[in-house]
Amino acid sequence: MKVTVTGAGGQIGYALLFRIASGAMFGPGTSVDLRLVEIPAGMKSAEGTALELVDCAFGTLNSVEVTDDPTQGFDGTNVALLVGARPRGPGMERADLLTANGAIFAPQGAAINAAAADDVRVLVVGNPANTNALIASAHAPDVPAQRFTAMTRLDHNRALARLALTLEVPVKALSNVIIWGNHSSTQVPDITHGLLTSSDGTTRHLSDVLQEKLGGSTAVGSWLTESFIPGVAKRGAEIITVRGSSSAASAAAAAVDHVHDWVVGTQDAWTSAGVVSDGSYNVPQGLISSFPVRGQHGNLEIVQGLSVDPEVRARIDRSVQELIEEREMVTALGLLTRKR
Ligand code: NAD
Ligand code: LMR
Repeated sequence: MKVTVTGAGGQIGYALLFRIASGAMFGPGTSVDLRLVEIPAGMKSAEGTALELVDCAFGTLNSVEVTDDPTQGFDGTNVALLVGARPRGPGMERADLLTANGAIFAPQGAAINAAAADDVRVLVVGNPANTNALIASAHAPDVPAQRFTAMTRLDHNRALARLALTLEVPVKALSNVIIWGNHSSTQVPDITHGLLTSSDGTTRHLSDVLQEKLGGSTAVGSWLTESFIPGVAKRGAEIITVRGSSSAASAAAAAVDHVHDWVVGTQDAWTSAGVVSDGSYNVPQGLISSFPVRGQHGNLEIVQGLSVDPEVRARIDRSVQELIEEREMVTALGLLTRKR
């Protein structure tokens, strides 16, 4: 597997590259060729990281190259992780980064179109991830739109972790939790289809388990609207406040999970990912929005036919409206128009 990571000299790059090289993304039987892409100002940091990668003597690391030329970095790549972008600071929304970061993703989409392998899969991590993925995809007309995805796996993992803590159960006992919409504070963590499987194999709806734990449906409703949903949606801002800079190791772990489940598969299990809408769940076709997905046949396939609770529906509509507004903004900035 040839894997390209942009922003390789940054915080997430430093947490991500060692996990990919150690076999966490594709398993111990697949060796990787790493391509580290930076801007000139980040080259020294990426070069230092490359030296350390070599020193780890990972059995699954075949080669490491560092470049500030995106076409060289994406040459023949099978998996492109677009991390390189500015992170937000305290008090900013992720969409505030559109003007600064949007311009990065048009030339990178064009370089992927020109140089990447035919089976390239792209994960956009740099914020605002959904709309940046849309920009990159618009500049790669020869790559199927389904191959451009945006990372909402960190939100998904945050939702699982918060539920596990509240219910005092292991994360692995939880399934069918969903993140819908934008990777922003309007995202929609949804537990209405969630399940808890006990160690004896019995499965119960999360809503019933929560009612038992919290003392009835009113208490669950308040917990969802006052604690769970805003807690997950604003966790990125909380990390920035507490840590002084945006999440890095948990973002890297989520990127590993996203690509692993895309390439290796999830069997029947669901996860969440920002993928191009085919009109499912009334999300306008072409927008990159988070859905429940399964990793099957090398694709991230939207889980179809789920009932959507009216309150969840209203939240999805608000998040989708925000994605539409972001698309309008980047259209006005000319970022969706390909240069000839
Ligand atoms: P960072 O500032 O530590 O590193 C970013 C790196 O990108 C820098 O080394 C910079 O030189 C490089 N870079 C900038 N422009 C580039 C370009 N055109 N090509 C290649 N490299 C380039 O930031 P970070 O903490 O690693 O975060 C990176 C991005 O990921 C931010 O936009 C952040 O908001 C986002 N993020 C997203 C999620 C998510 O869940 N989707 C989670 C965490 C962070
Ligand atoms: C996150 O969710 O932690 C990242 O998107 C960083 C941020 O700006 O919140």
